[in-house]
Amino acid sequence: MEFKKIGVLGTGQMGAGICQVAAAAGCEVLMADLNIDIVKKALGGIEKRLGKAVAKGRMEQAAVDKIMANLHPVEGIADFKDVDIAIEAATENIDLKLKLFKGLDEAIKPEAILASNTSSISITLMAAATSRPDKVVGMHFMNPVPVMKLVEMIPGLQTDDAVFEDVVKLAQTWGKTTTVSKDFPGFIVNRLLIPYLNEACFAHTEGLGTIEDIDTSIKLGLNNPMGPFALADLIGLDTVLAIANVLHDGLGDPKYRPSPMLIKYVEAGWLGRKTGRGFLQY
Ligand code: CAA
Repeated sequence: MEFKKIGVLGTGQMGAGICQVAAAAGCEVLMADLNIDIVKKALGGIEKRLGKAVAKGRMEQAAVDKIMANLHPVEGIADFKDVDIAIEAATENIDLKLKLFKGLDEAIKPEAILASNTSSISITLMAAATSRPDKVVGMHFMNPVPVMKLVEMIPGLQTDDAVFEDVVKLAQTWGKTTTVSKDFPGFIVNRLLIPYLNEACFAHTEGLGTIEDIDTSIKLGLNNPMGPFALADLIGLDTVLAIANVLHDGLGDPKYRPSPMLIKYVEAGWLGRKTGRGFLQY
């Protein structure tokens, strides 16, 4: 299947990154969110980041112009009628995602594919909410999307093998390396990552070390680009908590219970980089 026109619903940090990557690979991208102002803000963010790459001599202005010409803000998903694939990249909330998925299912043509960038929610469940469960695929990008090489691919129980292969190839033509995960809570990356981030919170609460010492230990001791607290702030603490809850509910093991520290920060609205304060200050 050829994917010329892509619809992305949700233009937050993940959605905007997906739009940029698809546009850079030459696809025409329709961008939708709750309203057009949110989309225009996302578009401005992409342009600013690409501008920085030009200033650093990493990109030609002509390449930026090409990417920007492929990005089209639209008023809503009613404009997604002729997309070949719609990718949902909304907040990690199951009720919201099911609602958006149903809307996308009605808006796009019958032969088009529906993908979700969910980082933990059941693809099988989302597929069951549509009239095309065989054409639903999980496509889990990593943050920041333009930088990170991986896309985790998840077939639901009902996904058609040929459809799945087509979407895997699409991610690869966008320059990504793909892995395949079974449709279990958290998939591969978050099954391992979230307990690690959560454990950092428990360890700090027990007085094992300061936030700074834990981050520095992991960064320098394990040669990771960031420590767990800085990484949780990058992802967004609300997202980390949402995924922790999916693991806890879906796997039913108390070892996945979210740390009270993580819950408190989310209650305070200290959600990480996007709010200027999370475990660290920005
Ligand atoms: N969007 C696009 N590009 C970005 C970016 C963003 N939000 N943030 C940084 N970059 C680019 C910069 O432009 C820069 O590009 P050049 O090298 O071409 O100049 C490059 O990334 C490096 O950025 P910086 O020099 O500003 O900073 P850095 O060297 O400290 O790198 C980082 C920043 C790429 C975020 C790096 O710290 C890193 O890789 N951290 C780990 C990220 C990670 O683990 N992500 C996965 C999270 S888990 C996930 O996403 C799954 C989930 O469901 C929760």
